[in-house]
Amino acid sequence: MSLPHLYVARTLTPSVMGELTDLGLPLIVGEEAPPARERLLADVAGASAAIVTLTERVDAEFLDAAGPALKVVANVAVGYDNIDLAAAAARGVVVCNTPGVLDEATADHTFAMLLAITRRVVEADRFARTGRPWIWGPNMLVGLDISAGATLGIVGFGRIGRAVARRAQAFGMRVTTSDPGLRIGASVNGVEVIEADTLLETSEVVSLHVPLLPSTRHLIDAAALSRMKPGSYLVNAARGGVVDETALIDALRSGHLAGAALDTFEGEPAINPELTTLENIVLQPHIASAGDRTRDNMCRLAVRNVTRVLAGEPAETPVPLP
Ligand code: GLV
Repeated sequence: MSLPHLYVARTLTPSVMGELTDLGLPLIVGEEAPPARERLLADVAGASAAIVTLTERVDAEFLDAAGPALKVVANVAVGYDNIDLAAAAARGVVVCNTPGVLDEATADHTFAMLLAITRRVVEADRFARTGRPWIWGPNMLVGLDISAGATLGIVGFGRIGRAVARRAQAFGMRVTTSDPGLRIGASVNGVEVIEADTLLETSEVVSLHVPLLPSTRHLIDAAALSRMKPGSYLVNAARGGVVDETALIDALRSGHLAGAALDTFEGEPAINPELTTLENIVLQPHIASAGDRTRDNMCRLAVRNVTRVLAGEPAETPVPLP
């Protein structure tokens, strides 16, 4: 295509798809499924802007395939570990993400996972579907009473961590957090800031809300898991790479952890088959932000970022480049 176009790697939500044509830009739009790498590189060639999702790797190869017309890459996700920021900075390409618009939906789903694993909702559903004879009993499918003062330790107290804290407080949980940006001993909205190790040692439930960075890869490894309270639970709606899945499987098999709920996986979209054999785990296919309005808002924010940069204005939600 001769005129610089807007490349959209995946089908966006229906209402935002309808608005794309109003932009007055030549468009190349991918499909519902992620494009094969060769297709992606061919379709982005010559683009002035690209809207991608966390399934597209935006690296030097991608940026070079796009060429010098490319001004902006807008990720439809708050996380941007799929994007090589140094490579974008070196080429003068603005990178944007979608912070803010997905906090409540992600916190809702995190809390749904927390309740599902502690109160054995998915396990009970599986059981009910077997058709096996059952009758109510005092010891049947008993889980953790989170409202009886159980402690939730939130690792990473950004917008999503704070939204999860509000929900936990409303449920009567004691909430603590560890976050390198906060002073140990401070209290933020009734949430005590403590050392990461203390958080692991004192929480009935640990919920992860940190971005995936070199410093957070395998933050929850065998050593961290062994610090967690026997019989406690892990919830991860951040990125799969934050948890060492092999170590997690060991901790779940040994019974050291009572359970885990995961929305994201190390080898996503592949899910380690060993995880699927465990009873004490809830598995979700990376849907924590999948609220109907939220997904519209994420797509719309990505489009706004593109139109602003192409109009020579600052992006609304740029990612700081190195
Ligand atoms: C989803 O995982 C996101 O980063 O928005």
